[in-house]
Amino acid sequence: MTLFKDASYVSRSIQWGELRGMHKIETIDTMTPEYKDTIFKIVVALASTEFASVEQHQQWINRGPTGEDRFTQAQICADEAHQGMEDFRTLALFGEEGTAAAERLLNTHIGDHMLEAFNLPFESWTDLCMFCCTMDLVAWYHLKAFENCSFAPFARSMTSMVPEERFHASFGANRVRTLLTNPEYAEKAGTLAGEVQARLEKWYPRALDTFGKSNSRFSEAAVEMGIRKWGNEELRQMYMADINPLLDKVGLRVPAPEWDRHFL
Ligand SMILES: [Fe+2]
Ligand SMILES: [Fe+2]
Repeated sequence: MTLFKDASYVSRSIQWGELRGMHKIETIDTMTPEYKDTIFKIVVALASTEFASVEQHQQWINRGPTGEDRFTQAQICADEAHQGMEDFRTLALFGEEGTAAAERLLNTHIGDHMLEAFNLPFESWTDLCMFCCTMDLVAWYHLKAFENCSFAPFARSMTSMVPEERFHASFGANRVRTLLTNPEYAEKAGTLAGEVQARLEKWYPRALDTFGKSNSRFSEAAVEMGIRKWGNEELRQMYMADINPLLDKVGLRVPAPEWDRHFL
């Protein structure tokens, strides 16, 4: 399993865990109750972030400092709406229960979303760039963990969703670097003195929280079922090993892993 190459194919057989070598699961009626419960909860949690993310981004579509920024914001909104649609189609496979969950999510708005990071509005362009740099990289790691997963329809969705998140995270990292190295851009963005560091301190702990509790039996079970490649803590460590040097390099002070965390 190579991490940094996004897979554009989906294998026919399950690649890891207890069911390794079996055909991937295509339909709900072939799932055990435990498998069904686990994958359903995972898809609902993921689906809850997508239109929530559109809510956060959409107000910024026409407010970025450059033409490319504005286009990128519109693209990010389209990508998140696309991911929402993909997740909702997956939920619809679960019948009434899935359709009801999707319907509920369509009518949930900022302040009431499942995950804290998606209930926080973007307060400035700098804030938005730091969200993309930190939170979209979290999203990419989460989706990488589902790449080629044992539930075939979900695995197929990952072939387009993984590269979308990579684009959002790379955009964020690029703009954070630009804000710190190009005073003209920072001025156009209205960045205040010390703001990039302050925004990092807002999002970094929320990003680490988004990986979930470290001793989660649920995440271990998802790995055994071939749904996720890595458990919560392993994924969080991979994320920190990736983003921390990048933040260091641009002169930001990376908060300690336990700092301002809401759960560990
Ligand atoms: Fe997303
Ligand atoms: Fe994203």
